[in-house]
Amino acid sequence: MKITFLGHSAYLVEADNFKALIDPFISGNPDCDYKVEDFTDITHIFVTHGHGDHLGDAVPIAKANNATIITVFELGETLMKEGVEVFTMHIGGRSNFDFGNVKMTPALHGSGIALGDHFISGGNPCGFLITIKNKVLYHAGDTGLTMDMQLLAYENVDVALLPIGGKFTMDINDAARAVKFIEPKIAVPMHYNTFPVIKADPQEFANKVTNAEVKILKAGESLVL
Ligand code: NI
Ligand code: MN
Repeated sequence: MKITFLGHSAYLVEADNFKALIDPFISGNPDCDYKVEDFTDITHIFVTHGHGDHLGDAVPIAKANNATIITVFELGETLMKEGVEVFTMHIGGRSNFDFGNVKMTPALHGSGIALGDHFISGGNPCGFLITIKNKVLYHAGDTGLTMDMQLLAYENVDVALLPIGGKFTMDINDAARAVKFIEPKIAVPMHYNTFPVIKADPQEFANKVTNAEVKILKAGESLVL
């Protein structure tokens, strides 16, 4: 499994016959050097919630690549109306795919979808546990610290992608507590420094994590499991 950071909470995840984006905030992402058109042969797009910095360019990329959007039922039902292929699930459920399996995890956040001057409900926000060939990737989505994260210690997480920017999500201290709960082999900080309001020092996060290796990825950098 190869995981490439695209800035903010966006990742490209590649494996055999699998080329997926998670929270594809591409256009408008100040740290992303890629354009929407640069993504070809995308098979799946994971969307944790309806906020613009996560739903991002999911619909145009799904349309251009014939990719399947994997997301929460309510958000998925809305996206289906855009004429894209959608696979919906819900919190706590696991689904099998040809590439492996996906479990949907809780996230403590909102999921409003901006529609002109108002928001429509996207249902619950979520995170994902993506298992491919016995390697487990956890993308937390946007979330505050929750006691529920202790349950993730049962999932043998190899890599945990965790927001550290504060204000809308966990800050550095809470994200370090999340690592204690989740017990991943590797923790990767995300959702920081994209905008001034979520300024955080990833090295400070690394210094506070005592039970996992922390890999700070710059946008464009990859991690291979
Ligand atoms: Ni959000
Ligand atoms: Mn966000």
